[in-house]
Amino acid sequence: MNCCWAPFLYLCLLVSQSRTAEASQETLHWMEKMEVAAKSRISTSSAELIHGLELRLLNASFGGHNLTLQTQIIQALAFKLNCNFSGLSLSSAALEKVPQARPQHAMQFPAELTRNACRTRSRDLRLICIYFSSTRFFQKDINSSLLNNYVLGAQLSHGYVSNLSEPVNISFWHNQSLEGYTVTCVFWKERASKHHWGAWSPEGCHTEQPTPSQVLCRCNHLTYFAVLMVCVHPVWMRVVRAAEGSTSRTEQKGKSWCKGQKSNSKGFKGG
Ligand SMILES: *[C@@H]1O[C@H](CO)[C@@H](O)[C@H](O)[C@H]1NC(C)=O
Ligand SMILES: *[C@@H]1O[C@H](CO)[C@@H](O)[C@H](O)[C@H]1NC(C)=O
Ligand SMILES: *[C@@H]1O[C@H](CO)[C@@H](O)[C@H](O)[C@H]1NC(C)=O
Ligand SMILES: *[C@@H]1O[C@H](CO)[C@@H](O)[C@H](O)[C@H]1NC(C)=O
Ligand SMILES: *[C@@H]1O[C@H](CO)[C@@H](O)[C@H](O)[C@H]1NC(C)=O
Ligand SMILES: *[C@@H]1O[C@H](CO)[C@@H](O)[C@H](O)[C@H]1NC(C)=O
Ligand SMILES: *[C@@H]1O[C@H](CO)[C@@H](O)[C@H](O)[C@H]1NC(C)=O
Repeated sequence: MNCCWAPFLYLCLLVSQSRTAEASQETLHWMEKMEVAAKSRISTSSAELIHGLELRLLNASFGGHNLTLQTQIIQALAFKLNCNFSGLSLSSAALEKVPQARPQHAMQFPAELTRNACRTRSRDLRLICIYFSSTRFFQKDINSSLLNNYVLGAQLSHGYVSNLSEPVNISFWHNQSLEGYTVTCVFWKERASKHHWGAWSPEGCHTEQPTPSQVLCRCNHLTYFAVLMVCVHPVWMRVVRAAEGSTSRTEQKGKSWCKGQKSNSKGFKGG
């Protein structure tokens, strides 16, 4: 018996594995398409690209409990959850297949996350996380930049998660001085802007700086999160402007007041 079944089982395994691979391959292709759009500045709608990725990730079939896909600027994760969910802690240090020199980040989800979904459905749930190390798909604002150019997103299948009593913790570690900046945890609020597909909003998020190198965002819902850095240098600007009277010189000198100017300007141009 064994000798006859073995090849068949092997074949079944291969077929199911390749189906799984196909589904995640499609998602990976979409991510690569997004990356090309980001580089070439093709004006494909950011909303369309991001929602397309969300749909693919929510629907991709895969074996095991989790799926990790990665391109240069996007990392996408999917986790199968059930109603026994007791919370989840994700750290970029553990997620990187190849250890990167990038600054770290982490997310902690409370057990409460699945409560509403489980009240109405008994189906299996899925949590997806989409991490960007580029601001390309989001709003550019000349007066602010995003810490590390990170935008960290999370979403649960079966409905929007909001009004959590125990917040989601999102930690950003930075490798640059925040001197001269005010930092604020924000989330991407869709349709909140006339000119873009959304805008950054601090509603429902609480900003803490538990250590000099960490910004902790405690938010009561799921969406895309970032830390907005606003350079505060009005006095310096005025002094330089009075002394030299040149606007472009003024801008340059004004910005250099903030120590993170390098990554800052990267955020403006390429981000
Ligand atoms: C979801 O995935 C299945 C196969 O895995 C596919 O047949 C179906 O078209 C997908 N649905 C959407 C909305 O992408
Ligand atoms: C994904 O699942 C594998 C085993 O299936 C496990 O070793 C790994 O830690 C999981 N990854 C995450 C981020 O939970
Ligand atoms: C949830 O936990 C209960 C008891 O702890 C167990 O009987 C049940 O099989 C679990 N359900 C799933 C989907 O893991
Ligand atoms: C911070 O990290 C980025 C990305 O890894 C790196 O390019 C940059 O040089 C680092 N900055 C400092 C001040 O270490
Ligand atoms: C978030 O952080 C706070 C303070 O560090 C902690 O008490 C809480 O348990 C964390 N939440 C989750 C979901 O891990
Ligand atoms: C940027 O800051 C300047 C000076 O504070 C202000 O006049 C301008 O409206 C701001 N621009 C945006 C887009 O917020
Ligand atoms: C949020 O939850 C609190 C209790 O935790 C409840 O009193 C309040 O009405 C809820 N708000 C919304 C908008 O659902």
